[in-house]
Amino acid sequence: MKQKKLNEQFKILVVDDSLYTLEVVQRNLSIEGYQVFTASTAEEALNFLEANPIDLVITDFKMPKISGLDLIRHVRENLEDVEIMMITGYPSIDGAVDAVKKGAEEYLIKPFTDKELLTAVERIEEKMIRKRTYQSKKFRVESYGIIGESAEMQNVFKLIKKAASTKANVLISGESGTGKELVARAVHYASERRSAPFVPVNCTAIHDNLIESELFGHVKGAFTGARDSRAGFFQIANGGTLFFDEIGDASLNLQGKLLRVMEDKTIYMVGSSRAFTVDTRIIAATNKDLLSLVTKGFFREDLYYRLNVINILIPPLRERTNDILLLINYFLEKFPTELNRSVPRFSDDALRVLVKYHWQGNVRELENLIQRLVVIKDNDLIEVADLPVSMKFSVNRKMEINRTLAEVEAEHIRNVLVSVNGNKTKASEILGVDRKTLREKLKRIKPVNTPENG
Ligand SMILES: Nc1ncnc2c1ncn2[C@@H]1O[C@H](COP(=O)(O)OP(=O)(O)O)[C@@H](O)[C@H]1O
Ligand SMILES: [Mg+2]
Repeated sequence: MKQKKLNEQFKILVVDDSLYTLEVVQRNLSIEGYQVFTASTAEEALNFLEANPIDLVITDFKMPKISGLDLIRHVRENLEDVEIMMITGYPSIDGAVDAVKKGAEEYLIKPFTDKELLTAVERIEEKMIRKRTYQSKKFRVESYGIIGESAEMQNVFKLIKKAASTKANVLISGESGTGKELVARAVHYASERRSAPFVPVNCTAIHDNLIESELFGHVKGAFTGARDSRAGFFQIANGGTLFFDEIGDASLNLQGKLLRVMEDKTIYMVGSSRAFTVDTRIIAATNKDLLSLVTKGFFREDLYYRLNVINILIPPLRERTNDILLLINYFLEKFPTELNRSVPRFSDDALRVLVKYHWQGNVRELENLIQRLVVIKDNDLIEVADLPVSMKFSVNRKMEINRTLAEVEAEHIRNVLVSVNGNKTKASEILGVDRKTLREKLKRIKPVNTPENG
């Protein structure tokens, strides 16, 4: 698939004994950015559901052995959070009403258009977003003042706990705005060092000719302008934690100095020959790939390994959809109180845009946006029109313009086949080609993935 999937978190399992339906549905929904899996029997679907978190099951009604209705019943009884859509050829005979009663959110009648399918899926998706937003209000998940319930953040919390129980150095990596500093503070305040200072140092802000004095301090008269003695970062953070932010931007000079202190734990103030022993824990953060800087010779390998004893990687916000909703709620509650405003609400469409947005600036970008919206909107409903233009554009998932003729042709063939229930004779009539040509074209079309191979 060529385009970026903006909505990898919404996972759909399609169950149908007709491979053509599977293929068409999978294709159409993948193009829209959904992550789509397929199963050709209800048994296969049940196995898949046991091992994989799925948001929506789209199932055929008539299938050999276990029917769609039984599948729906099973999902309803065992998997609370999974939504269901049923596909049926004959709504009245198949008992679609029954299916809806048993827990299917929607049903679609075959043959259906791409648009009908997408509209139905989007309706369910919206409902789900609403439900989750509501639920997340009830169960805000927070650790160390860090909001997040995604598996990725649970892992981060685990690592924070582990790091807090040791003195080992920590390297935190992640894009800008993912909460690296927040995590560094969490490690410090969860550790035994919490009553000693946490001292953040931005490596880009240290002048190369002041490195020694900034890090180790200086005594009175050490250099022109040194009118008083001044402690350096290592002394201030003694017993506590020094947080070197943007470590990837540290000059080789600074890197060398850091490495030396980490090795022998002693410092000399500029202008003094008296050695101070320091006990400072080092946490560093970077949004760069340090290893590639090592390869290029911009970062010392020995320092890299010294720092990277415990590695905490914070994934970007766009990979943790559930956290987006949690954070929106968190900031919605936080800012109105701070700004003396009342809490605005989001329309479902606006929420959908936010969940699908790429969040280049991660949590910081989200935080700033909510703050701005709270100021502008006060008590009102926030709608798509209120969101920044760039956000609305980036959510346009269609990208039809990127598709090749072969892709469009393949899709059309699949659609026609579905509409005639896989009858190749009828399909070739509609398509205006003979059966042989159709067979050959079908051979070239990529087969669908099944839970086993996809
Ligand atoms: N999981 C989170 N929960 C709550 N606030 C967060 C979270 N992640 C980031 N923030 C907030 O987003 C902003 C950016 O976080 P910060 O730690 O400075 O990011 P980084 O250092 O990675 O650029 C801060 O205001 C921070 O409080
Ligand atoms: Mg930062």
